[in-house]
Amino acid sequence: MGIDGTTKIVGIFGAPVAHTASPAMHNAAFAALGLNWLYLPFHVEPSHLRAALDGIRCLGLAGVNLTVPHKVLALAMLDDVDDEVRRIGAVNTVSIADGRLRGHNTDAAGFSTAIQEEFGLSLRGTRVLILGAGGAARAIAVRCAGEGAAAIWIANRTPANAESIVRAVGDRAHVASLRSLPEADLVVNATSVGLHEGDSLGLPAKFFSARHCVFDTIYRPAETELLRTARQAGARVANGTGMLLHQGARAFEIWTGEKAPLSVMRDALQAAIEGNA
Ligand code: ATR
Repeated sequence: MGIDGTTKIVGIFGAPVAHTASPAMHNAAFAALGLNWLYLPFHVEPSHLRAALDGIRCLGLAGVNLTVPHKVLALAMLDDVDDEVRRIGAVNTVSIADGRLRGHNTDAAGFSTAIQEEFGLSLRGTRVLILGAGGAARAIAVRCAGEGAAAIWIANRTPANAESIVRAVGDRAHVASLRSLPEADLVVNATSVGLHEGDSLGLPAKFFSARHCVFDTIYRPAETELLRTARQAGARVANGTGMLLHQGARAFEIWTGEKAPLSVMRDALQAAIEGNA
Protein backbone atom coordinates (compact mmCIF):
# COMPACT_ATOMS: atom_id res chain seq x y z
CA MET A 1 0.00 0.00 0.00
CA GLY A 2 1.55 3.31 -1.04
CA ILE A 3 1.44 6.23 1.35
CA ASP A 4 -0.72 9.06 0.00
CA GLY A 5 -2.84 11.96 1.17
CA THR A 6 -5.51 9.67 2.63
CA THR A 7 -3.24 7.35 4.64
CA LYS A 8 -4.41 7.05 8.25
CA ILE A 9 -1.61 7.11 10.78
CA VAL A 10 -1.40 5.44 14.19
CA GLY A 11 1.68 4.66 16.27
CA ILE A 12 3.30 4.13 19.62
CA PHE A 13 4.64 6.73 22.06
CA GLY A 14 7.44 5.45 24.29
CA ALA A 15 10.92 6.10 25.62
CA PRO A 16 12.70 3.99 24.61
CA VAL A 17 10.77 2.75 21.61
CA ALA A 18 13.54 1.42 19.38
CA HIS A 19 12.87 -2.27 20.09
CA THR A 20 9.09 -2.26 19.80
CA ALA A 21 7.57 -5.15 17.83
CA SER A 22 4.22 -3.35 17.46
CA PRO A 23 4.87 -1.59 14.11
CA ALA A 24 5.65 -4.93 12.44
CA MET A 25 2.51 -6.52 13.86
CA HIS A 26 0.14 -3.68 12.94
CA ASN A 27 1.60 -2.86 9.54
CA ALA A 28 1.35 -6.53 8.55
CA ALA A 29 -2.32 -6.46 9.61
CA PHE A 30 -3.05 -3.31 7.58
CA ALA A 31 -1.39 -4.83 4.52
CA ALA A 32 -3.31 -8.11 4.91
CA LEU A 33 -6.65 -6.29 4.97
CA GLY A 34 -5.66 -3.80 2.25
CA LEU A 35 -6.14 -0.86 4.63
CA ASN A 36 -4.40 2.40 3.78
CA TRP A 37 -3.07 2.76 7.33
CA LEU A 38 0.44 3.13 8.75
CA TYR A 39 1.81 2.44 12.26
CA LEU A 40 4.89 4.41 13.32
CA PRO A 41 7.16 4.48 16.40
CA PHE A 42 7.48 7.88 18.11
CA HIS A 43 10.20 8.44 20.72
CA VAL A 44 8.42 10.73 23.19
CA GLU A 45 10.06 11.90 26.41
CA PRO A 46 7.73 12.20 29.43
CA SER A 47 8.13 16.00 29.48
CA HIS A 48 6.65 16.07 25.96
CA LEU A 49 3.81 13.64 26.52
CA ARG A 50 1.09 16.27 26.85
CA ALA A 51 2.21 18.00 23.65
CA ALA A 52 2.47 14.65 21.87
CA LEU A 53 -1.07 13.67 22.91
CA ASP A 54 -2.28 17.05 21.65
CA GLY A 55 -0.47 16.17 18.46
CA ILE A 56 -2.92 13.30 17.92
CA ARG A 57 -5.61 15.95 17.51
CA CYS A 58 -3.46 18.49 15.67
CA LEU A 59 -1.90 16.08 13.20
CA GLY A 60 -5.04 14.01 12.69
CA LEU A 61 -3.58 10.71 13.92
CA ALA A 62 -6.19 7.95 14.28
CA GLY A 63 -4.83 6.82 17.67
CA VAL A 64 -1.74 5.59 19.49
CA ASN A 65 -0.43 2.94 21.83
CA LEU A 66 1.42 4.08 24.92
CA THR A 67 4.31 2.19 26.43
CA VAL A 68 6.92 2.76 29.15
CA PRO A 69 7.01 5.31 30.78
CA HIS A 70 3.70 6.85 29.68
CA LYS A 71 0.95 4.43 30.69
CA VAL A 72 0.19 6.02 34.06
CA LEU A 73 1.15 9.61 33.24
CA ALA A 74 -1.24 9.79 30.29
CA LEU A 75 -4.33 8.95 32.33
CA ALA A 76 -4.82 12.52 33.55
CA MET A 77 -4.25 13.95 30.08
CA LEU A 78 -7.17 12.27 28.27
CA ASP A 79 -10.78 13.41 27.83
CA ASP A 80 -12.51 10.09 28.53
CA VAL A 81 -11.47 6.82 30.15
CA ASP A 82 -13.64 3.84 30.99
CA ASP A 83 -14.12 2.36 34.43
CA GLU A 84 -11.65 -0.48 34.04
CA VAL A 85 -8.92 1.94 32.93
CA ARG A 86 -9.57 4.08 36.00
CA ARG A 87 -9.29 1.08 38.32
CA ILE A 88 -6.12 -0.11 36.63
CA GLY A 89 -4.68 3.41 36.68
CA ALA A 90 -2.92 2.91 33.37
CA VAL A 91 -3.75 3.34 29.71
CA ASN A 92 -2.01 1.66 26.78
CA THR A 93 -4.27 2.62 23.86
CA VAL A 94 -5.72 5.98 22.85
CA SER A 95 -8.45 6.48 20.27
CA ILE A 96 -10.01 9.71 19.06
CA ALA A 97 -13.62 10.51 18.22
CA ASP A 98 -15.09 13.97 17.63
CA GLY A 99 -11.81 15.50 18.75
CA ARG A 100 -11.94 13.76 22.15
CA LEU A 101 -9.12 11.47 23.28
CA ARG A 102 -10.31 8.23 24.85
CA GLY A 103 -8.11 5.91 26.93
CA HIS A 104 -8.32 2.12 26.87
CA ASN A 105 -6.33 -0.64 28.53
CA THR A 106 -6.06 -3.50 26.08
CA ASP A 107 -3.32 -5.20 28.17
CA ALA A 108 -6.05 -6.39 30.53
CA ALA A 109 -8.24 -7.91 27.81
CA GLY A 110 -5.12 -9.20 26.03
CA PHE A 111 -4.18 -11.12 29.17
CA SER A 112 -7.50 -12.89 29.54
CA THR A 113 -7.68 -13.78 25.83
CA ALA A 114 -4.13 -15.18 26.01
CA ILE A 115 -4.96 -17.29 29.07
CA GLN A 116 -8.04 -18.66 27.34
CA GLU A 117 -6.10 -19.42 24.18
CA GLU A 118 -2.96 -20.88 25.78
CA PHE A 119 -4.57 -22.93 28.54
CA GLY A 120 -8.27 -23.13 27.60
CA LEU A 121 -8.76 -21.53 31.01
CA SER A 122 -11.48 -19.05 31.91
CA LEU A 123 -10.60 -16.63 34.73
CA ARG A 124 -14.05 -17.22 36.27
CA GLY A 125 -13.67 -19.36 39.38
CA THR A 126 -9.88 -19.55 38.98
CA ARG A 127 -7.43 -18.98 41.87
CA VAL A 128 -4.70 -16.72 40.57
CA LEU A 129 -1.33 -15.92 42.14
CA ILE A 130 0.22 -12.79 40.64
CA LEU A 131 3.92 -12.19 41.22
CA GLY A 132 4.64 -8.45 41.16
CA ALA A 133 2.71 -5.27 41.84
CA GLY A 134 3.61 -2.85 39.05
CA GLY A 135 1.47 -1.67 36.14
CA ALA A 136 1.21 -5.06 34.46
CA ALA A 137 0.20 -6.79 37.71
CA ARG A 138 -2.45 -4.15 38.30
CA ALA A 139 -4.05 -4.59 34.88
CA ILE A 140 -4.08 -8.36 35.34
CA ALA A 141 -5.51 -8.21 38.87
CA VAL A 142 -8.32 -5.82 37.87
CA ARG A 143 -9.20 -8.05 34.92
CA CYS A 144 -9.19 -11.19 37.08
CA ALA A 145 -11.63 -9.51 39.48
CA GLY A 146 -13.82 -8.27 36.61
CA GLU A 147 -14.08 -11.77 35.17
CA GLY A 148 -14.91 -13.41 38.50
CA ALA A 149 -11.68 -15.10 39.61
CA ALA A 150 -12.24 -17.05 42.85
CA ALA A 151 -9.12 -15.62 44.52
CA ILE A 152 -6.47 -13.12 43.52
CA TRP A 153 -3.25 -13.42 45.53
CA ILE A 154 -0.59 -10.80 45.01
CA ALA A 155 2.98 -11.52 46.10
CA ASN A 156 5.51 -8.74 45.75
CA ARG A 157 8.98 -7.78 46.97
CA THR A 158 7.50 -4.54 48.37
CA PRO A 159 4.26 -5.48 50.19
CA ALA A 160 2.99 -1.86 50.20
CA ASN A 161 2.71 -1.97 46.39
CA ALA A 162 0.70 -5.20 46.61
CA GLU A 163 -1.58 -3.56 49.20
CA SER A 164 -2.28 -0.71 46.82
CA ILE A 165 -3.51 -3.19 44.18
CA VAL A 166 -5.63 -5.02 46.74
CA ARG A 167 -7.35 -1.73 47.60
CA ALA A 168 -8.12 -1.08 43.92
CA VAL A 169 -9.36 -4.61 43.25
CA GLY A 170 -11.58 -5.29 46.26
CA ASP A 171 -12.48 -8.21 48.46
CA ARG A 172 -11.34 -11.15 46.34
CA ALA A 173 -7.74 -9.85 46.34
CA HIS A 174 -5.21 -10.46 49.10
CA VAL A 175 -1.58 -9.70 49.71
CA ALA A 176 0.10 -13.09 49.71
CA SER A 177 3.43 -14.81 49.81
CA LEU A 178 4.82 -17.53 47.61
CA ARG A 179 3.37 -20.03 50.08
CA SER A 180 0.03 -19.58 48.25
CA LEU A 181 1.55 -21.13 45.15
CA PRO A 182 0.50 -24.76 45.70
CA GLU A 183 -3.14 -23.66 46.05
CA ALA A 184 -3.20 -21.51 42.91
CA ASP A 185 -4.54 -22.75 39.57
CA LEU A 186 -2.82 -20.01 37.59
CA VAL A 187 0.53 -18.38 38.43
CA VAL A 188 1.44 -15.17 36.60
CA ASN A 189 4.84 -13.48 36.60
CA ALA A 190 4.22 -9.75 36.26
CA THR A 191 7.61 -8.70 37.63
CA SER A 192 10.52 -7.73 35.41
CA VAL A 193 12.54 -10.63 36.82
CA GLY A 194 13.51 -12.92 33.94
CA LEU A 195 14.26 -10.24 31.37
CA HIS A 196 18.00 -10.63 31.91
CA GLU A 197 20.26 -13.65 31.78
CA GLY A 198 20.69 -15.12 35.27
CA ASP A 199 17.53 -13.49 36.71
CA SER A 200 15.79 -15.74 39.20
CA LEU A 201 12.60 -15.51 41.23
CA GLY A 202 13.97 -18.41 43.23
CA LEU A 203 10.87 -20.60 43.05
CA PRO A 204 11.81 -24.26 43.56
CA ALA A 205 10.47 -26.98 41.26
CA LYS A 206 8.74 -28.69 44.21
CA PHE A 207 6.24 -25.77 44.32
CA PHE A 208 4.88 -26.75 40.87
CA SER A 209 2.86 -29.68 39.63
CA ALA A 210 0.85 -30.75 36.60
CA ARG A 211 -2.23 -28.95 37.95
CA HIS A 212 -0.61 -25.52 37.51
CA CYS A 213 -0.84 -23.16 34.55
CA VAL A 214 2.10 -20.75 34.63
CA PHE A 215 2.09 -17.59 32.54
CA ASP A 216 5.02 -15.19 32.22
CA THR A 217 4.30 -11.68 30.88
CA ILE A 218 7.90 -11.66 29.62
CA TYR A 219 8.23 -12.83 25.99
CA ARG A 220 11.95 -12.21 25.42
CA PRO A 221 13.64 -14.51 26.36
CA ALA A 222 11.02 -16.99 25.17
CA GLU A 223 11.56 -19.18 28.23
CA THR A 224 12.40 -17.55 31.55
CA GLU A 225 13.84 -19.54 34.44
CA LEU A 226 10.35 -19.57 35.99
CA LEU A 227 8.80 -21.18 32.91
CA ARG A 228 11.63 -23.69 32.59
CA THR A 229 11.35 -24.74 36.24
CA ALA A 230 7.56 -25.01 36.05
CA ARG A 231 7.61 -26.91 32.74
CA GLN A 232 10.16 -29.39 34.04
CA ALA A 233 7.92 -29.99 37.06
CA GLY A 234 5.02 -30.87 34.72
CA ALA A 235 3.11 -27.56 34.74
CA ARG A 236 1.60 -26.05 31.58
CA VAL A 237 3.47 -22.88 30.65
CA ALA A 238 3.17 -19.92 28.26
CA ASN A 239 5.18 -16.76 27.72
CA GLY A 240 3.86 -13.23 27.13
CA THR A 241 3.72 -13.31 23.33
CA GLY A 242 -0.01 -14.09 23.35
CA MET A 243 -0.76 -11.15 25.65
CA LEU A 244 1.23 -8.82 23.39
CA LEU A 245 -0.59 -10.17 20.35
CA HIS A 246 -4.07 -9.84 21.82
CA GLN A 247 -3.54 -6.36 23.30
CA GLY A 248 -2.46 -5.33 19.79
CA ALA A 249 -5.40 -7.04 18.13
CA ARG A 250 -7.82 -5.29 20.48
CA ALA A 251 -6.20 -1.89 19.77
CA PHE A 252 -6.38 -2.61 16.02
CA GLU A 253 -10.10 -3.30 16.31
CA ILE A 254 -10.72 -0.15 18.39
CA TRP A 255 -8.98 2.01 15.79
CA THR A 256 -10.13 0.44 12.53
CA GLY A 257 -13.44 -1.19 13.45
CA GLU A 258 -12.24 -4.25 11.48
CA LYS A 259 -11.65 -7.74 12.86
CA ALA A 260 -7.93 -8.19 13.52
CA PRO A 261 -6.20 -10.76 11.26
CA LEU A 262 -4.72 -12.74 14.14
CA SER A 263 -2.55 -15.24 12.33
CA VAL A 264 -0.89 -12.53 10.20
CA MET A 265 -0.26 -10.47 13.34
CA ARG A 266 1.09 -13.45 15.24
CA ASP A 267 3.60 -14.34 12.48
CA ALA A 268 4.78 -10.72 12.13
CA LEU A 269 5.12 -10.37 15.89
CA GLN A 270 7.10 -13.59 16.23
CA ALA A 271 9.46 -12.56 13.43
CA ALA A 272 9.97 -9.11 14.98
CA ILE A 273 10.63 -10.56 18.43
CA GLU A 274 13.15 -13.03 17.04
CA GLY A 275 14.74 -10.36 14.83
CA ASN A 276 15.19 -8.06 17.81
CA ALA A 277 16.65 -10.70 20.06
P1 ATR B 1 5.41 -2.84 34.84
O1 ATR B 1 4.72 -1.52 34.71
O2 ATR B 1 5.96 -3.36 33.53
O3 ATR B 1 4.60 -3.85 35.55
P2 ATR B 1 6.96 -1.91 37.10
O4 ATR B 1 5.82 -1.02 37.45
O5 ATR B 1 8.33 -1.35 37.09
O6 ATR B 1 6.75 -2.57 35.68
O7 ATR B 1 6.90 -3.18 38.09
C1 ATR B 1 7.92 -4.07 38.18
C2 ATR B 1 7.56 -5.16 39.21
O8 ATR B 1 8.66 -6.07 39.26
C3 ATR B 1 7.36 -4.65 40.62
O9 ATR B 1 6.40 -5.48 41.25
C4 ATR B 1 8.73 -4.88 41.26
O10 ATR B 1 8.70 -5.05 42.65
P3 ATR B 1 8.66 -3.79 43.68
O11 ATR B 1 7.23 -3.34 43.74
O12 ATR B 1 9.15 -4.37 44.95
O13 ATR B 1 9.57 -2.76 43.09
C5 ATR B 1 9.12 -6.17 40.62
N1 ATR B 1 10.56 -6.37 40.63
C6 ATR B 1 11.49 -5.71 39.90
N2 ATR B 1 12.73 -6.18 40.16
C7 ATR B 1 12.57 -7.18 41.09
C8 ATR B 1 13.46 -8.08 41.77
N3 ATR B 1 14.77 -8.06 41.54
N4 ATR B 1 12.94 -8.98 42.64
C9 ATR B 1 11.60 -9.02 42.87
N5 ATR B 1 10.70 -8.21 42.27
C10 ATR B 1 11.18 -7.30 41.39
